[in-house]
Amino acid sequence: MRHKQSDYMRWSKTESRARFNLATSGVAAFPLRDLPLDLKTLEINGENSYGYAPLQNAIAQHYAVDPECVVESAGTSMANHLAMAAILEPGDEVLIEHPAYGPILDVADYLGAKVNRFYRREETGWVVDSEAIRRRITPKTRLIVITNLHNPTSVLTSDSVLREIGDVARSIGALVLVDEAYLDAVYENTPQTSFHLGAEFVVTSSLTKVYGVSGLRCGWILVRPDLAWKMKSLNDLYSATPVHPGELLSVAAFQHLDLLRERARRIVEADRKLLHDFLARETNVSAVRTKWGTTSFVRLKNGNTDAFLDRLRADFDTSAVPGRFFEMPDHFRIGMGVNTEMFREGLNRISETLRSIRK
Ligand SMILES: Cc1ncc(COP(=O)(O)O)c(C=O)c1O
Repeated sequence: MRHKQSDYMRWSKTESRARFNLATSGVAAFPLRDLPLDLKTLEINGENSYGYAPLQNAIAQHYAVDPECVVESAGTSMANHLAMAAILEPGDEVLIEHPAYGPILDVADYLGAKVNRFYRREETGWVVDSEAIRRRITPKTRLIVITNLHNPTSVLTSDSVLREIGDVARSIGALVLVDEAYLDAVYENTPQTSFHLGAEFVVTSSLTKVYGVSGLRCGWILVRPDLAWKMKSLNDLYSATPVHPGELLSVAAFQHLDLLRERARRIVEADRKLLHDFLARETNVSAVRTKWGTTSFVRLKNGNTDAFLDRLRADFDTSAVPGRFFEMPDHFRIGMGVNTEMFREGLNRISETLRSIRK
């Protein structure tokens, strides 16, 4: 039987909510009423067989790339699926970071690829070590996959390391898939997309995590034109054409991207300050501190994390993502950028739970 589900997605959709919900990864929802837009210009149908040109152009302009290299997709989820499905054949090897965002592993499994791993280590700040990748490739490796920023830790991979990974991939004729769903949460000196680093780079992203408009499902792939066509053709077997009103609203979102981003930034930055204060005062948890990103991956030094999270939810109505979804059961992930009062109180409740398990 092929793998046909994501345990993480099921948990996230059905079990992650609580009054103090720190099991998030994206920023607060941006309300439609705050998007400067004349709703009379909305339309139901439009010319979008292989992408709606104004949206393709908006994405291309955002990155300074040729619109021929842009593939529209339903979120980063479908972008990752289309990219991997177009590149991998059953039995091909794919080398994926550890810890990883679960659905990336699930898709690779579903496609019948052989999944190999390279490890990002907490002791070295979760950074990607290109030598660790070099040691794990084989002549059958077709694709290397990383997230940047890294989910769950929010660690940024520098262009110089990305270039090294590109060199490793080129040496065996493989490609590098970089999921950049969180990259625009680097609010200052935002790195340019890794797509510019070489022809072996395939990039996926969306407006869902950093801009608060997840409901638009506006995602995309940046890839060289021959592969772009392969992915567009493959999408004919999946969602065929995008929802046109969503495309129109996405174009409007692109026109006001700074407004969306700055609103989220204020919340993310206030939350990060609270997180760092929390990490400084709590001795039974630790986390690699980052300057950017909407998530933090926290280690519980003593105690069982699942039992801890059960108590946090049952007694304190607060949720966080269990580390087992990232194959690291001693950790849990908390999310910033939704509501600072909720975040403050959620952290207080984590502190109370830590005190209660010490007794
Ligand atoms: C690394 C990563 N990629 C992709 C996604 C899916 O994003 P989207 O909502 O754009 O489909 C997520 C969502 O949490 C994610 O963390």
